[in-house]
Amino acid sequence: MRELTFLLNGERVTLNNPDPALLLSDFLQQRGVTGTKVACGQGGCGACTVMISRRVDGRVVHHGVNACLKAVCSLDGMSVTTTEGIGDVHHGLDQAQHCIAAHNGTQCGFCTPGFVMNAHALLRARPQAREQDFEDSFGGNLCRCTGYRPILHGMRTLASDYDASRDQTPPCVVDPTFPKSR
Ligand code: FES
Ligand code: FES
Repeated sequence: MRELTFLLNGERVTLNNPDPALLLSDFLQQRGVTGTKVACGQGGCGACTVMISRRVDGRVVHHGVNACLKAVCSLDGMSVTTTEGIGDVHHGLDQAQHCIAAHNGTQCGFCTPGFVMNAHALLRARPQAREQDFEDSFGGNLCRCTGYRPILHGMRTLASDYDASRDQTPPCVVDPTFPKSR
C-alpha cells in the first residue's frame, strides 16, 4: 500500500509513498503546525505530546504519544490532534489550556503544549479521571521553569474529585479576552 490517509486536527491528509523514516514531529513542522514543540527528540521530555485517536473493537480510544517517536507511516486510519486542534485564544480555549494559564503553570511555554495535550488525551480517555490520575500521568512530561507545582495544581482542577472549597491557592487573573470553549 503506497497511500497513507489520516486526520490532522480534523482535516484529511493523504500522502503518497511517504518516507518510512519520516517522524510525526518533523511532519508537523514541515506542514506549519508548529504548536507541537521538540526539545529532546528522544522520547524523554514530553514536549512533543499529541493525541492519537484510533478505532479498537468498534470504539475510539485516545492516547497521548510522543510525536518525536511516532512514524508517520504508522498513522494510517488514525486521527492526530495537536494543541492547535483543541482551542486557541481567538475561538476559545480547551479546559486543559485554560487551567494551565489560570494557575500560572507556564513560563517559557516550551513544555506547555505537551502538558496540555497529555491532559486533554487523559480526559478524552477517562472523563472521570481523579486527582491522583492526573498526578500519575505526567511522569513523561518535563518542565525546566515552573517547578511543576502550578502545572499540577492547574491540572488537578480538572479532576472529578477536585474540591474547590479545600483549595487555598489563589488563581491568577487570566486575560478576560481568553474565552474557555469547553
Ligand atoms: Fe519528544 Fe522530547 S521532544 S519527548
Ligand atoms: Fe519553560 Fe516548562 S514553562 S519548560
